[in-house]
Amino acid sequence: MSLKLNLKYAGDSAGKEALASMKDEVSAAFGKLKNGTGAGSDYLGWLDLPVNYDKSEFARIKSCAEKIKSDSQALVVLGIGGSYLGARAVIEFVKSNNYNLISKDTPDIYFGGNTLSSYSLAELIKLVEGKDFSINVISKSGTTTETAVAFRVLKKIIEDKYGKEEAAKRIYVTTDKSRGALKALADKENYQTFVVPDDVGGRYSVLTAVGLLPIAVAGIDIDALMSGAAYAREKYASDDSPENDACKYAAVRNLFYRSGRKIELMVSYEPSMLMWNEWLKQLYGESEGKDGKGLFPSSVIFSTDLHSMGQYIQQGERLMFETVIWVNSPIEDVDVPFDSDNGDGLNFLAGKTMHYVNSKAFQGTILAHTDGDVPNIVIELDRQDEYNLGQLIYFFEIVCALSGYILGINPFDQPGVESYKKNMFALLGKPGYEQEKEILEKRFI
Ligand code: PA5
Repeated sequence: MSLKLNLKYAGDSAGKEALASMKDEVSAAFGKLKNGTGAGSDYLGWLDLPVNYDKSEFARIKSCAEKIKSDSQALVVLGIGGSYLGARAVIEFVKSNNYNLISKDTPDIYFGGNTLSSYSLAELIKLVEGKDFSINVISKSGTTTETAVAFRVLKKIIEDKYGKEEAAKRIYVTTDKSRGALKALADKENYQTFVVPDDVGGRYSVLTAVGLLPIAVAGIDIDALMSGAAYAREKYASDDSPENDACKYAAVRNLFYRSGRKIELMVSYEPSMLMWNEWLKQLYGESEGKDGKGLFPSSVIFSTDLHSMGQYIQQGERLMFETVIWVNSPIEDVDVPFDSDNGDGLNFLAGKTMHYVNSKAFQGTILAHTDGDVPNIVIELDRQDEYNLGQLIYFFEIVCALSGYILGINPFDQPGVESYKKNMFALLGKPGYEQEKEILEKRFI
């Protein structure tokens, strides 16, 4: 019942000797994490989150999810980056990337506030038209423009529909416990609020109310999700253990990086893991990409993308390695039928399951790509359920932190994200940015 790291296809740079050469660096990184002596150590709350969380808030998440399920056909989740990717990844991973289309007894879930696209917001408005709906607005800082502006628009719509008093009972706010404009508004309007803990950064927050409320509304077992994460917390608790796959994977990522493989391609064979890949890309990209360093995380869904990116991977520049997450038992399977005409010549597959066919594509691709000098790391998962996913989330979070410390950066900050915001505010004419506005506008002439 646990995930397994397989380095058989990772080549010599991830072999026993190479791993042994990293032992001291891994131990030092592990020590920083466990003793809270590394950069960004104010943001280590996620380490113990699977066991050390606010139990009464957890119960309130469940009761609010029940209320939303009973009075809403749709839940609009407004948030960006770490304030939405985790929830969306989990819902699609456990349920389906077609969650809103499948027949179910839980509300549709629409994600907004993660773009400034006018068309996307207009579409969101149309999607909730005529439906009973609730809103969960999520922002740790409480000031993120994408989320705040979408909330302003949706708040007016929900208030016009239900009146201010009833609307207030349908708005759920997840934000800082005391700071920020969103918290002030929530207090003023008496919205139900949930807390993003001070010591948990956005991209590490999926197992807080940030992820858990929308996930619970989708009918996903959040107890099982937390149990899986708690299991992983125990499993990866010591760097002495030869079984510590998190340490090994963190070491291998850095070994590849140092040997010039600067791109990590996250691979899955399940379309329902597309948003999982997006979550992973944010986790790795925002954590590691700084100080002129860091692996560039990218992702593909196979076999789909073997027909678009496969050519490059097989024969293009040798810049990358792949990390494949393979799920042993699919959520559902389909048999390939016998066809007496056999016009397509596929009767050799009759009676086989689609998952069997997928597994042969996986094996064939690993061999082809390693033959083409693209090393492969394989992470095997028993099944696509809450318990396994809880493990996977914790595994990747701890790998990310360890990897970042080995790389020599602070895996918990994101100073670079501010640059575009500063320019955008100046160009939009936000008060206080007058001087920057003048300078920036000249650069467009
Ligand atoms: O990981 C992070 O910290 C970021 O991706 C944030 O989650 C994102 O920028 C949204 O910030 P906020 O929750 O403050 O609106």
